[in-house]
Amino acid sequence: MSVTALVGAQWGDEGKGKIIDILAEKADVVVRSQGGNNAGHTVVADGATYKLRLVPSGILYPDKVCVIGNGIVLDPKALLAEMKEIERSGKSLNGLKIDARAHVVMPYHIALDGLSEKMRGGSDIGTTKRGIGPCYMDKAERSGIRMCDFTDEKIFEQKLRANLLIKNKILTEIYGGEAIDFDEVFGEYVEYAKALRPYVTDASVLVYDAIKSGKNVLFEGAQGALLDIDVGTYPYVTSSHPTAGGFCIGTGIGPTLIDECLGVCKSYTTRVGKGPFPTELDDEVGDMIRQKGGEYGTVTGRARRCGWLDLVILRFAVRVNGLTSLAVNKLDTLTGLGKLKVCVGYKKDGKILSDFPVDIADLGGCEPVYEIFDGWNEDISNVRAYGDLPLNARKYIEFIENTLKVKVAMVGVGPSRKQNLTR
Ligand code: GDP
Ligand code: IMO
Ligand code: MG
Repeated sequence: MSVTALVGAQWGDEGKGKIIDILAEKADVVVRSQGGNNAGHTVVADGATYKLRLVPSGILYPDKVCVIGNGIVLDPKALLAEMKEIERSGKSLNGLKIDARAHVVMPYHIALDGLSEKMRGGSDIGTTKRGIGPCYMDKAERSGIRMCDFTDEKIFEQKLRANLLIKNKILTEIYGGEAIDFDEVFGEYVEYAKALRPYVTDASVLVYDAIKSGKNVLFEGAQGALLDIDVGTYPYVTSSHPTAGGFCIGTGIGPTLIDECLGVCKSYTTRVGKGPFPTELDDEVGDMIRQKGGEYGTVTGRARRCGWLDLVILRFAVRVNGLTSLAVNKLDTLTGLGKLKVCVGYKKDGKILSDFPVDIADLGGCEPVYEIFDGWNEDISNVRAYGDLPLNARKYIEFIENTLKVKVAMVGVGPSRKQNLTR
């Protein structure tokens, strides 16, 4: 048996969906524990491309239990649309389970996400506008609607009325937006609640029992370490814990139950939304990476900002997650780029910083220190064994491994299941 946690090691979109799908073949249970449909996890399998937002990426196998844990903020309308898509592609939803404590994203959360971003003007965060932050705000304020409330019509009615009383004041009087009509929302959402009720359970018990009975459990992280609300590049972060500790809180299990923690990164760095990005390439090399790597958001379609690989960031991810191994995706995107740069530290006032600064203000005046590598021109997308990669590609991977002192267990050379080299 093994219990493996998989986390994003950068700013999200590292290719977590692909690795989860590969590992899920041997898993019994796959669990999402934080975030919501701000996540977009792409899986390329059997010649088709799937984009998963809330449903764990294990769903593409027929016999896996796929858990949406208590730490998730769940938009019922979005989830039902996603479930429909999955069924339309011939996959079964039999294994889907939703924890009764998961919080529900309501239309006022989505409206508030958009309006608060607008009010921030130029200092907006660049959120996905899926209502994630406002839903977690209500959870912390203890006014949120949980799945157990949502699926009980009487309680849902009371909680929705109480919430709308306040939210409509905020929407109209503070933000100058439109009020939300109780009857309209209640009528629509009560139907969503009925459709989701059969999936609701106590997932903490389910996952605990699975681990104790020796099943293989896989935790699927969303977002990435630098988007963590506590240790990330605050305030340019999401409102949950994409770091490994988030699995415990967001599933209701203890840390001693997790055996391994695999970090997923790309062979370069990307970020969507605003906030600092020390190795960002605002030039034709950045454009080339974006074009070759198809770096456009899965959820919002926004162009992702691109830059060189940053080992200061990965060193941070190793520390805050306790990573035991690393998967490096998209090595194929670097093919033909010429000389490759890898950031090994930040230079500030004549000193070299090797740890990511606590306060993003301290990144001002920081200059990345680069090691320069010779690239390769051979097409590597058909390589199926690590040893068959060009020497310079292997040198690049081994430099990452030696610098971080963490095993690079997998290397991605393309989006499909087969294009993953296991070491
Ligand atoms: P996630 O949010 O971490 O699951 O990542 P996304 O799905 O948002 O973005 C990763 C993108 O890279 C998707 O389009 C994947 O199909 C693709 N991808 C994953 N691994 C590789 C790889 O090794 N090479 C290439 N070329 N594409 C990859
Ligand atoms: P996956 O799981 C990349 C970013 C947004 C924004 C910030 C806050 O696919 O890797 P939010 O809507 O969460 O309040 O937005 O976080 N963000 C992501 N960036 N991948 C993601 O998920 C993300 N989820 C949120 O772009 O900068
Ligand atoms: Mg994504």
